[in-house]
Amino acid sequence: MEVLTPNHIYPIFDRMLDRSSKEQLLGQRGLMVWFTGLSGSGKSTLAIALERELQQRGLLCRILDGDNIRSGINNNLGFSPEDRVENIRRIAEVGKLFVDTGIITLAAFISPNNDLRQMAARIIGPDDFLEIYVSTPLAECERRDVKGLYAKARKGEIKAFTGVSAPFEAPEHPALTLDTTQLDVQQSVEQLLALILPKVQLKNKE
Ligand code: ADX
Repeated sequence: MEVLTPNHIYPIFDRMLDRSSKEQLLGQRGLMVWFTGLSGSGKSTLAIALERELQQRGLLCRILDGDNIRSGINNNLGFSPEDRVENIRRIAEVGKLFVDTGIITLAAFISPNNDLRQMAARIIGPDDFLEIYVSTPLAECERRDVKGLYAKARKGEIKAFTGVSAPFEAPEHPALTLDTTQLDVQQSVEQLLALILPKVQLKNKE
């Protein structure tokens, strides 16, 4: 199938090997696990712990996280509402490439509102998109202040800091909500595995 998009771009799909052949090769299904939550809520920590558990079970993952992506592909973007949209749009497009390659992709971005996360789900495809809300309360994220950014935001040294001077909208229907003040990392990872494993196992491998 050749699709004509504007600007005389002709994406080629018909001669490339398709997703299901790659999933057969890997013995798993591709999936986007999208962690959303405040800075310091534990998104990356959970993604890292989850990746280890999945890999131990022979499942291939790729983590995409805020600080890494923002120091590379998105190093020209800041934190204005427009830049946050472009940040998430690019991440979703890159994430889709991984998911279409059969890889379990773990994205850890604040992605502070429903519109942003819905855009990501639309780009990736809602059936391949699992929204995980890391709901650790602001007071705890601020108490941890791992990067020292909340203190700077309170002093006005960082503008539009999510949770302090820019909004965070909780997801409406997350697949799972994890509050790291109530659960330790292992307990959270167990809940994640219970949700994810049935979705990434190939039917003919069960
Ligand atoms: S998002 O809102 O665009 O989804 P993203 O997850 O990529 O954010 O990046 C968040 C990380 O950038 C935070 O964990 C923090 O380390 C850093 N950061 C720097 N400035 C800000 C800011 N104004 N608001 C939120 N995070 C910021």
